[in-house]
Amino acid sequence: PKRLAILASGSGSNAEKIMEYFQHSDKAEIALIASNKPDAFVLERAKKFDVPTFTFSRKEMDAGILLEKLQAETIDWVILAGFLLKIPDHLTQAYSDKMVNIHPALLPKYGGKGMYGSFVHEAVKAAGDTDTGITIHLVNEHYDEGKIIFQASTPISPLDTADTIADKVHALEHEHFPRVVGELVGA
Ligand code: GAR
Repeated sequence: PKRLAILASGSGSNAEKIMEYFQHSDKAEIALIASNKPDAFVLERAKKFDVPTFTFSRKEMDAGILLEKLQAETIDWVILAGFLLKIPDHLTQAYSDKMVNIHPALLPKYGGKGMYGSFVHEAVKAAGDTDTGITIHLVNEHYDEGKIIFQASTPISPLDTADTIADKVHALEHEHFPRVVGELVGA
């Protein structure tokens, strides 16, 4: 089977959906959950699924330790699911066309540095947009600019808050991300 690693910095609800999705697959397996946050809840979720975990600092990642680990684990695909650090170039190059990210808005809108998590939903709210959504894209050395693979949108109204927008976006992510990853990796 294809060996997938998930990189996540936080709660990991998307990581959990992906672990669930591939739990009984013979074509792909989640071989590693890696996080830059030693107390991220995603690490608890990994335990539940018996998936090995790895934590690292930004410095270590930049120095190549994460890449070393991914190679030692013979990882074929890297899935970013709420991973909030900029991926260093040596890593995007090693996994070029084999690294995928989910962004909680309709890129190219609301992408780039500082645009993650609730900041994205605050910006969407402030702009008064009538819809938002999710973007699943390949990762290259330009933040949030890799090839778009899939988008889905949801209507929002002036009554929505950043929190309710986040809930709607999470629902879309959970619905689509595991299947789109599956199609991408051929599982
Ligand atoms: C998700 O909404 C994901 O799109 C976003 O972080 C959230 C993580 O939720 N990612 C980014 O903002 C990346 N720039 P989760 O930890 O519950 O999966």
